Amino acid sequence: MAAPLGNAFMSPVANSNLDETPLLAQGGAELSIVIPTFNESANIPLIVDEIRSILGRDLNWEVVFVDDDSPDQTSGVARQMALFDRRVRIVRRVGRRGLSTAVVEGILSTSAPYVIVMDADLQHDTSLLPRMLIELRTQHYDVVVGSRYVDGGGMGAWEEGRQNASRLATRIASLVVRAPVKDVMSGFFGIRRDAFDRVLPRLSNMGFKILLDLFASSPEPLRFKEVPYTFKQRIHGDSKLDTLVLWEYLLLLFDKKFGHIIPARFVSFSVIGVSGIAVHFAVLTAMFQVFHRGFAVAEAVAALTAMTWNFALNNMLTYRDRRLSGWGLLRGWAVFVGVCSFGAVANVGIANWLYEGKFNWAASALAGVVLGSVWNYVMSSMFSWRTTAART
Ligand code: GDD
Ligand code: MN
Repeated sequence: MAAPLGNAFMSPVANSNLDETPLLAQGGAELSIVIPTFNESANIPLIVDEIRSILGRDLNWEVVFVDDDSPDQTSGVARQMALFDRRVRIVRRVGRRGLSTAVVEGILSTSAPYVIVMDADLQHDTSLLPRMLIELRTQHYDVVVGSRYVDGGGMGAWEEGRQNASRLATRIASLVVRAPVKDVMSGFFGIRRDAFDRVLPRLSNMGFKILLDLFASSPEPLRFKEVPYTFKQRIHGDSKLDTLVLWEYLLLLFDKKFGHIIPARFVSFSVIGVSGIAVHFAVLTAMFQVFHRGFAVAEAVAALTAMTWNFALNNMLTYRDRRLSGWGLLRGWAVFVGVCSFGAVANVGIANWLYEGKFNWAASALAGVVLGSVWNYVMSSMFSWRTTAART
């Protein structure tokens, strides 16, 4: 297919006479399209076909799928396509989850001077790709945003509730992003490599709002342009974003505002810890007052329930990107209970030691709680949700 925008769109590489077919370009890609995937096997051939027909053979492009070891064999499907077309590439990550980190690692895997990030599910409008590249090539912009909120763009057939939630989230985002980007929640955008490289060391790398992270982390304001598109309906597969991503979103905002003072993950861990105290007292009251069990037994059951509660919530929220499942979940839970039991003993021991050393009783207790929590946080992040690449 001819390049849709004529000569302006022709890549300098494609004109080189080193190559008998423009498809087999000699150099690295000029444009890399980075697509994070989780359970998108049915969409892979469709999105590659769309990109092929839009970008054609006159441009030196590639597409990089970054798949988090999807059970539906997404990476296998992509690898199969890659065997027949070297422009298709695949990065498979094991034991990890997360849209933002997938995007970052996809960009790091390529040398292309221009990168466009988009979803695999055909909800983003591939016909915008040439226009986005042309805007990036002008060198006037660091980022080109596919936007639902500028004239000509739209939300498509989103339900009212999700539209409102998205608008609200966009408004809250202005707390950390000073640039007047209308659709900073967009997962469809292009970025110049030099701009990305400058922001990279400062990224929070949390959650799924990588564009927001880029804008909020950039040392100097990113020059941007928004181009309109209408969000399409998903046909194959399911959305991966559930209501729990809201928590990750709030953590990202917190990290951008206060992360230099206190780690967002520790705050998440502590908030959940406080909810665990409520669970502890509820179970204790039920066992002791309602079912008239011995105090020691009631305490033990309450403590174990609260620990299990904390473990489950931390696995869903604080460590969503490393969430455990299967046997790993059981192992992680056992380690968590061990760590927290030691933390409880240390908490009481330290409080007692301070109290005997003539400190105020409340201050002694508070010091015990703080030290116990830090212990629980550090140890459980190292041993329950450990980050070794070898873990599968
Ligand atoms: N590697 C990886 N890891 N990919 C993921 C993960 C993950 O944990 N979670 C989701 N993805 C991939 C999906 O397979 C899809 O290609 C893309 O990321 C977007 O996920 P969807 O589940 O389709 O998200 P959505 O349609 O609800 O949300 C979209 O709209 C938002 C607009 O407000 C996404 O484009 C968001 O990025 C966008 O912000
Ligand atoms: Mn989607």
